[in-house]
Amino acid sequence: MIYEQIATGGCQSYLLGCSETCAAVLIDPEASQIDRYLGLAARDGLRIRYLIDTHTHADHFSGTRQLARQLGVPVVMHRESPAPFVDMRLDDGDMILVGRLRLQVIHTPGHTRDSMCLQVEDRLFTGDTLLFGATGRTDLPTGDPEALYDSLFGGILRLDTALKVHPAHDYKGGVESTIARELGENPRLQKRDRAAFVDMMRSLSLSMPTHITEALRSNMSGGKTVAQLLAEAAAAVPFMALAELKARVESADENFIVLDVRERDAYENGHIPRARLLPRGQLELRVNDDLPDPTRRIVACCEFGRISTLAAATLRELGYQRAAALDGGVKAWREAGYPLKSGSEP
Ligand SMILES: [Fe+2]
Repeated sequence: MIYEQIATGGCQSYLLGCSETCAAVLIDPEASQIDRYLGLAARDGLRIRYLIDTHTHADHFSGTRQLARQLGVPVVMHRESPAPFVDMRLDDGDMILVGRLRLQVIHTPGHTRDSMCLQVEDRLFTGDTLLFGATGRTDLPTGDPEALYDSLFGGILRLDTALKVHPAHDYKGGVESTIARELGENPRLQKRDRAAFVDMMRSLSLSMPTHITEALRSNMSGGKTVAQLLAEAAAAVPFMALAELKARVESADENFIVLDVRERDAYENGHIPRARLLPRGQLELRVNDDLPDPTRRIVACCEFGRISTLAAATLRELGYQRAAALDGGVKAWREAGYPLKSGSEP
């Protein structure tokens, strides 16, 4: 078996390949690492056949849907998953064939209702059901400490104790563990009595994961994250460096338009000399009057350089083929000590 572990902060993804057939499966991919997974698969001579999420993640952005579109392969999750874009829904006891590899599905509700573990040869991919020295939390949507107790003590902890454990989270990095080691050393697994275990899980007071609302929105609906939306816009437009824009503003180059897409009060407080005001919110409604010549070169700018990227992408979609965005924003311009003009005139 070809095995790759890819960390995104503490989140772990796994690329497993069949060395005989070169078919592969990607477990718990994260949206920001898509190029890395594809690069690793290419380097290892693998073709990804399935994209599996072990459960609905509340703490990272799943890359399964985006990869499924790119690769034309199915998204696989437990049948309890609320995500409408899942192509293959699994039950406990199902098996996925990836070349000669056999992935055995074990439904392990508790961290979430749709959690599952996957056993492949001598390895157990535990999702957030069992972590190194911990278990998944049970206080997020569909979590249930009673169910987790059953999934652990009546489920995966009864498997061959020599199985290597591969969780969806590991904040230490480089740890190797087995069921036997977790049974012996994992503090949460020392509470073998149901009531004591459930009490312990209920009394953990953990802070909410960052981005939980966005992660659940995106992972449960298949909708884009804000970062994804911005990345797609950024991929469709060129940028102009601060110093390049400054030189062109100073040379009074009449051949391009600096377009400030912030709101009027921000513009009047201080804008790049020669910049015209056209707030992002009014862009589509006013372009025909404000920018009658679609062949002009336009550099959009905003405070941080994100909304201007969306504005430049919109302008390109509308046929302004020379629209670009300032790399950085008026904030970076200001911090560089470049001149600003206040008032309502460009
Ligand atoms: Fe999780």
